[in-house]
Amino acid sequence: TDRPDLVVVGSGFFGLTIAERCATELDLKVLILERRYHLGGNAYSEFDPETGIEVHKYGTHLFHTSNEKVWDYVNRFTTFTNYQHKVFGKFEGQVYSLPMNLALINSFFGKSHTPDEARALIAEQSSEIDTKDAKNLEEKAISLIGRPLYEAFIKGYTAKQWQTDPTELSADIITRLPVRYNFDNRYFNDKYEGLPTDGYTAWLERMADHPNIEVRLDTDFLDEDVSAEFKGKVPIVYTGPVDEYFDNVEGRLSWRTVDLEVETVDVDDYQGTGVVNANDPDVPFTRVLEFKHLHPERTYLPGKSIVVHEFSRFAEPEDEPYYPINTADDREKLLKYRDLAEKEPMVLFGGRLGTYKYLDMHMAIASALSMYENKLKPHFADGAELK
Ligand code: FDA
Repeated sequence: TDRPDLVVVGSGFFGLTIAERCATELDLKVLILERRYHLGGNAYSEFDPETGIEVHKYGTHLFHTSNEKVWDYVNRFTTFTNYQHKVFGKFEGQVYSLPMNLALINSFFGKSHTPDEARALIAEQSSEIDTKDAKNLEEKAISLIGRPLYEAFIKGYTAKQWQTDPTELSADIITRLPVRYNFDNRYFNDKYEGLPTDGYTAWLERMADHPNIEVRLDTDFLDEDVSAEFKGKVPIVYTGPVDEYFDNVEGRLSWRTVDLEVETVDVDDYQGTGVVNANDPDVPFTRVLEFKHLHPERTYLPGKSIVVHEFSRFAEPEDEPYYPINTADDREKLLKYRDLAEKEPMVLFGGRLGTYKYLDMHMAIASALSMYENKLKPHFADGAELK
């Protein structure tokens, strides 16, 4: 028969890594089912035909990792530019350099500080509340960085991100709010960082480019006829939402989504950098992206740029689920879904949606590599039970 050896549901980094490993190392025939019109999951991007600018369709994706195994693996499919991510934040008509560092402290307080002076200042301002007494996100943040920085750089942004006043958010949402007492404004601390030289989609397509891998687009595994064809008949790696798989029997897990308003503007350079956060509470969007700046090495149509205003809100069932909200109620439901998932024969659940976890790309890849090594390879190469 031409039944595949393995079905992978979802063609994001998790599913593609599984498919690529099984096809290349074990010579298995892998069928990837993807419900969108394109492969690649949320890292997918398209080049705008008019301006030549690469547009990340589901929000900006910056690759970074300190994991040697992941770095070696991804370099088989793409090279990376030497882009280093920097973020700025606007507040009350001024632009500051993030993450919070000496540059920000100096411009915000209007005076130059040595590292020790800045440390003493923040220690004094944060002494208002003891961290262990913090009852909500606001108090926790003040206990870590003091009220003035909290009110400018955390309060408005967080309220917009969660559509909830920070006094009503759990203190657990933040564990640390690092302040750098130097001028380092690199956003990520990882050993490796960069953007795929010829774009995300070229990278994702190369992962699927193997004679043993077939990708079927516009195909929803949860459609009755599709699941009837494969469920219980071949091993399946499912990377879609875990609650949907079980028909939401325990209720829906809650997610935040982001509305992206993409627009082409008639200026060569709109904001001078890739990402500017909007910290003012009365500005409705959370941040503005300008894609051109992610690839300064490319040539573009002059006089044009593409910018995106991002708006954060709770996801409705028809929205793209982006960030798990993870309330106590969600965690309870998740435990029940995990139980069901354990018992589901011949199906492994993985990825961001399948485990209800925010995973960066490098984490999704690392987690897929370990599922391959610890579960799929023992099963297919040595006949171990698939669990
Ligand atoms: P992913 O969501 O990519 O793929 C799942 C796929 O399954 C989707 O294509 C979906 O259509 C498909 N699917 C679901 N149900 C299905 C069904 N029933 N049938 C068929 N197909 C189905 N990471 C990072 O390292 N740096 C960054 O800057 C960012 N930025 C970022 C911004 C935003 C807004 C988000 C939401 C995420 C990021 N990420 C990120 C994270 C990155 O997107 C993430 O690591 C990968 O998407 C994880 O890959 P997965 O394969 O797990 O899921």
